[in-house]
Amino acid sequence: MAIERTFSIIKPDATKRNITGKVNALIEGAGLKIVAQKRIQMTRAQAETFYGVHKERPFFGELVDFMISAPVVVQVLEGEGAISRYREVMGATNPANAVPGTIRKECALSVGENSVHGSDATETAAIEIAQFFSANEIVG
Ligand code: GTP
Ligand code: MG
Repeated sequence: MAIERTFSIIKPDATKRNITGKVNALIEGAGLKIVAQKRIQMTRAQAETFYGVHKERPFFGELVDFMISAPVVVQVLEGEGAISRYREVMGATNPANAVPGTIRKECALSVGENSVHGSDATETAAIEIAQFFSANEIVG
């Protein structure tokens, strides 16, 4: 499988509990390399753009409020088949359905406060990375 890059967010529930290192250890333990990372306070406009695909969903307002409720850590992860690999490492959206050893099983609180985001396809990974990083901030 090809070397890919995917976009990750460590969400407010995890930054609030000071467990970003625990999440990063699971990422690195899965063979993914963190090639860019920064801690930011997302603006409402950034969160609405980022989750624009969900704007008609009933939980959209709650999702945006949550994403700006505390700092997040935005990341670019690199590795063999990084997009699908990271989805596996994250685990199911609802932590109640996540497999032991996954980030969401080990860290998440609920379907809303689910600790991490990961891109779902090549095209979305490229768009999401470009929303938060310039090329010279990514060092593989
Ligand atoms: P992301 O990596 O964050 O995109 O998660 P996902 O791809 O596993 O799930 P999806 O794209 O379907 O949903 C995006 C995010 O919306 C989820 O990660 C949750 O944080 C949130 N979400 C999804 N369903 C619900 C819900 O029923 N209630 C609330 N509050 N949030 C939800
Ligand atoms: Mg998604």
